[in-house]
Amino acid sequence: MSFTSYPQAKPRLHRSELAVPASQPKFFEKAAASEADAVFLDLEDAVAPDEKDQARKNAIQALNDIDWGEHIISVRINGLDTHYMYRDVVDVVEQAGGALDMIVIPKVGTAADVYALDMLVTQIEQAKGLARRIGFSLIIETALGMANVQDIAGASPRNEALNFGVADFAASTRMRLTDIGGASPDYTVLTGGPQDLEREVHWNDVWHYGLARIVVAGRARGLRVLDGPYGDFNDPEGYRAAARRAATLGCDGKWAIHPKQVALANEVMSPRAEEVRHAERVLEAMAAATAAGQGAVALDGRLIDIASIRHAEALVQTARRIEARKPASRAAGN
Ligand code: GLV
Ligand code: MG
Repeated sequence: MSFTSYPQAKPRLHRSELAVPASQPKFFEKAAASEADAVFLDLEDAVAPDEKDQARKNAIQALNDIDWGEHIISVRINGLDTHYMYRDVVDVVEQAGGALDMIVIPKVGTAADVYALDMLVTQIEQAKGLARRIGFSLIIETALGMANVQDIAGASPRNEALNFGVADFAASTRMRLTDIGGASPDYTVLTGGPQDLEREVHWNDVWHYGLARIVVAGRARGLRVLDGPYGDFNDPEGYRAAARRAATLGCDGKWAIHPKQVALANEVMSPRAEEVRHAERVLEAMAAATAAGQGAVALDGRLIDIASIRHAEALVQTARRIEARKPASRAAGN
């Protein structure tokens, strides 16, 4: 390990993040009763300009009046380049800060963006005597944000999570595709050469670079990392495939832009029973090896060592958190 170490963000279950437009209060109770680990009330891109004021009021009321149970409950504010942003922060934190877990900050471009918001939120928390620190969940979704992701990840002790905002990222970088979070038939490799009679087309993942970069920057600073939206909510297999790729790279969770994507995210982002069992056996085998003064042993014909412990411990901890989580419907007393 390096001599430099950063504190880990709160270890919270964050497999699914359900987006709910704050202009649509009819969806709030359903979101609170959903199995999503996290919910954000959106004041930004799902809300039209002339609905912004009312959406903000709705979000404040929802934070104060609804029992969000074990959900991580957040509000996505408007971007720092808009005049809605300051009022989003001031009104929401002043009037409902005690009920708020995190502020979701869109289109973060530089560490200074995070710093500015940290200052504002700190002042309001102090003025209001809020005891619990509000966290930041940052969306990396512009070329500028991606270029600065490492600095952004370390810009505030409030930072808890990084999210890959694929829709805006595609727009910002001018990617030529229309399926948000999906695959592109234009991003392929053709095998062989002109001499070959048969050549195969292999589709590649257009999101790989951005997501891998965010995972590294987030994990380096002890943050949770989430993959963003998958636009086609009638394509569960496409969603699962995207979520599996994200989980394989190290993400904690994935967004759900429709309630039916929540179960898919929870399913894919939960370690499978056989993975948990294997991790438990790794921990048992390593405990026995340590007791015998050995640093590495073989398990099922494969070498395991101290690195295997860290991996196995993280997996088992996630499994324990899932076991401990009450179903939202039960928590709500239904
Ligand atoms: C999310 O905000 C996105 O742009 O994908
Ligand atoms: Mg966006």
